[in-house]
Amino acid sequence: MDINNPKGILIHSDGLSRRDFVKYLLAGSTLSVAALNKLNAAVYQSITSLNQKYIKDESPDGIYWDALQKHFLFQDGIVMMNNGTIGPMPKPVFNTLIKIFKLQVTNPYDCYNFIPGKKEEVRTKLAKFIGASPEEVVITRNTTEGINFVVNGLDLKEGDEVLLSNMEHPGGICPWELKAKRYGVIIKEVEIGLPPKSTEEFVDSFRKAITPKTKVISISHTVYISGLISPVKELCQMAHDKGILVLADSAHGIGMLDLNMKELGVDFFATSPYKWLGASTGVGVLYVRKEVQDKLWPTIASSGWNTNEGARKFETLGQRADALMIALGEAVDFQDAIGKQRIERRIKSLAGYLKQELKKIPGVKLHTSEDPYLSGGLTAFSIAGVELQKIVDYVREKYNIVVRTVGSKEKGTYGIRVSTPIYVSFNHVDMFVKGVRYLTSRR
Ligand SMILES: Cc1ncc(COP(=O)(O)O)c(C=O)c1O
Repeated sequence: MDINNPKGILIHSDGLSRRDFVKYLLAGSTLSVAALNKLNAAVYQSITSLNQKYIKDESPDGIYWDALQKHFLFQDGIVMMNNGTIGPMPKPVFNTLIKIFKLQVTNPYDCYNFIPGKKEEVRTKLAKFIGASPEEVVITRNTTEGINFVVNGLDLKEGDEVLLSNMEHPGGICPWELKAKRYGVIIKEVEIGLPPKSTEEFVDSFRKAITPKTKVISISHTVYISGLISPVKELCQMAHDKGILVLADSAHGIGMLDLNMKELGVDFFATSPYKWLGASTGVGVLYVRKEVQDKLWPTIASSGWNTNEGARKFETLGQRADALMIALGEAVDFQDAIGKQRIERRIKSLAGYLKQELKKIPGVKLHTSEDPYLSGGLTAFSIAGVELQKIVDYVREKYNIVVRTVGSKEKGTYGIRVSTPIYVSFNHVDMFVKGVRYLTSRR
C-alpha cells in the first residue's frame, strides 16, 4: 500500500465520472487506499496539464478556472460565496481524509507508527507555503486556539497595555478580556476606518495610541467585518522600533493570500485553513517567530513541553485528529499545484470586479478598500435604505448564491460580506450584482 507517494501514479483523465465519484464518496469506507491515491493522481495530472496549456494565459475566466471548479466537492448548483465562514474541500483533500481515517480504523498500530513522520512532512510543507521555517510552525486546531496560545503564553503584568482595533473578531477579543480580568492587563481600542484611507493612516492610528506601557499590538490581518487586509508589515516595522510585539489574527489569510512570514516580519500569526485553503475544520496554524519563542510559554503541557525544539513545544496536545493534519498537507499540495500567486491574483481580480460593479448601484457604500494592497477576497458593503438580510435571502433563493451579513448596526459596520474564492466565476459575480440591483431598485 503506497501511502507515501500518492502522486506517483500517472493517469490521463479524471478517472471517474461525477456520478461514480459521488457513489465512491457514499461508499467511502469500502474504497481502497490505492483507488483513493489514483483519484488524487488524476486531479493533479489534470491541474498540471491545465497549467501547461494556460501557462501564459491569465485566464480571468473560462476553461482554466471552470476546470478547477470541478475539483471541488459541491452540492449541484450551490455558489459558495461565504467560504469566509467555512470553505469547501477539493476532492484530493477529502480523499486523503478518508484514506487516513481508513488506516486509523483498520490498522491503528501501523497508523500510530506511520503518522508522526507524516506530521513533520506537513509542518515542512506549511513552512514553505507561508515563508517560515518548520521550527516556527505550530499545528493548532484553529485561529482561536492560536491566539489563546499567544495571549496565555506571554508574561504580562498588571498595567501593561495591549492595543486592539475596533473591528476584532470575538476570537481576538475574548482571550485578552480573560487576560485583563486575571492579570490586570489593560486593553485599549484603536479605531480603524471603514475602510482606512491608506497604510499610513492605519499605522498612524496605532502609533498615536502607544504609551510606554504598550507591550503588544493584537489585530486582525484579515478583518472579518470589512475585508481589510491590514498592512501588517508596516505596522510591525513601527511597533518593533518601539519594542512592541505584534500578534496578527489572519483567520482568512492562508489560501487567500500569497503569505510570507519573513516579509511580514510579524511575531505571531494565527490562521484557519478550513476557510480559503480547502482543509477540514479542526486544524489551524500558528506561526511563532523564532526570535520571540523564548518569550512564549506553552499553554498546554504534555511530554515535550520543556524539551521539544522550536514551535513543537507549543504543540504537546496528546493524541490528535491525525487525518485532519495529513489532509491539511494535501490542501497545501492542491494550492501549490495551482500556484499561490495565481490564486491571490484570481481572488483579487474577482473582488476588484465585484467592487467596480457594486459602485455603479446608487446608494452602495463599500466597506472594503479598493486598494489591492489593503484588500483581498472579502468584500463588504451596505446600501442606504435597504434591508440587507433581504438581499442575502433573495440571492440564495434566486441564484443559490451564499453570502452573509456581518458587523453591527449600532456601530455602523453592518454590511453584506461576499467572498470571491477561486472556484467562483465572473459570471457568478454578475448574478450576485444583478440580485443586489434588483432589490435596490425596489427601495
Ligand atoms: C478574523 C477572525 N478571527 C478569528 C476567527 C475565529 O476562527 P476560528 O473559529 O477558526 O478559530 C474568525 C472566524 O471567522 C475570524 O473571521
